[in-house]
Amino acid sequence: MSGYAIQTKQLTKRYDKQIAVNKVNLHVSAGKIYGLLGRNGAGKTTIMKMLMGLTEKTSGEIVIFDKMFRKGERDIYSRIGCMIEAPAFYPNLTGTENLRVMAKLRGVTRKDAIKKALGTTGLPFNDNKTFSQYSLGMKQRLAIANAIMHEPELLFLDEPTNGLDAIGIAEMRKLIKEMSTIQGKTILISSHILSEIALLADDIGVIHHGTLLEESSFSDLEKKNRKYLLFQVSQIAKASNILEQKFGLTNYSVEDNQYIRIYSFDVDIAEINRVFALNDIAVSGIQTRTDSLEDYFKKITGGAGIA
Ligand SMILES: Nc1ncnc2c1ncn2[C@@H]1O[C@H](COP(=O)(O)OP(=O)(O)OP(=O)(O)O)[C@@H](O)[C@H]1O
Ligand SMILES: [Mg+2]
Repeated sequence: MSGYAIQTKQLTKRYDKQIAVNKVNLHVSAGKIYGLLGRNGAGKTTIMKMLMGLTEKTSGEIVIFDKMFRKGERDIYSRIGCMIEAPAFYPNLTGTENLRVMAKLRGVTRKDAIKKALGTTGLPFNDNKTFSQYSLGMKQRLAIANAIMHEPELLFLDEPTNGLDAIGIAEMRKLIKEMSTIQGKTILISSHILSEIALLADDIGVIHHGTLLEESSFSDLEKKNRKYLLFQVSQIAKASNILEQKFGLTNYSVEDNQYIRIYSFDVDIAEINRVFALNDIAVSGIQTRTDSLEDYFKKITGGAGIA
């Protein structure tokens, strides 16, 4: 056992001349929540569709539950659930009735399957409301109930919080967390919002123009985030010059024409302050800071950022 629920090797999808997914090596640990983060058009949905066999890969390999996922694969679907693009529910049927239809289509026979899935997602079992009368949040919940009816171990959720309000998002987050911690499911979730993934996922994969730029656990990411000293000064050019000439510092950056970030704590702050004052440079603040996740992603996506 590899410990991974999903592994891809050089997974690639090409549409005519465009490469939508480019040699992606994904490692989704069993029992964890993995967040696939990327801007619109980055390739998130295409990856999920290939993992589900909803679209054919151009090249590369997919290994799910330590088994090569091949075209025409059938057995594996009893262990996977997905919410990729909104399922077609009947507007004039209730949630329960819709799930009954879906259960029949998908061969879900367990008696309490529908009641249990609705319970998990917080929807009523006996309700007169038809799907057309559902709020967006209820529709999303029903889509998840549909995805988990057969109690899969692995769940793909493509942007499950799309269109929800703040409370809806918080509720969805709670539901996803519970499915991971209480039920032990492995969950692959996609989003274009960094803060959302940061609050939810154990591991993150950053996809940009079809390429996986970074794959890491959040705890490792925190270690990678650089700490720095932040000086707020007047006369930024003169101050930078002094740092280089007098203190031999090169690992610093300048922003907004008034802040200098020094990426080292191995400097004599008092001495820098003194020399700045001698040269008529006013220092209006000194702080120790850590790069935010946003800073970090801006850096790895070449300034474009995510979020
Ligand atoms: N059926 C298709 N035919 C041609 N190109 C496609 C097709 N599906 C997706 N693409 C292209 O592949 C790229 C990746 O699309 P994909 O839908 O995977 O991105 P995404 O990360 O899910 O974006 P979003 O956040 O907008 O959902 C895009 O440039 C898209 O236009
Ligand atoms: Mg998408």
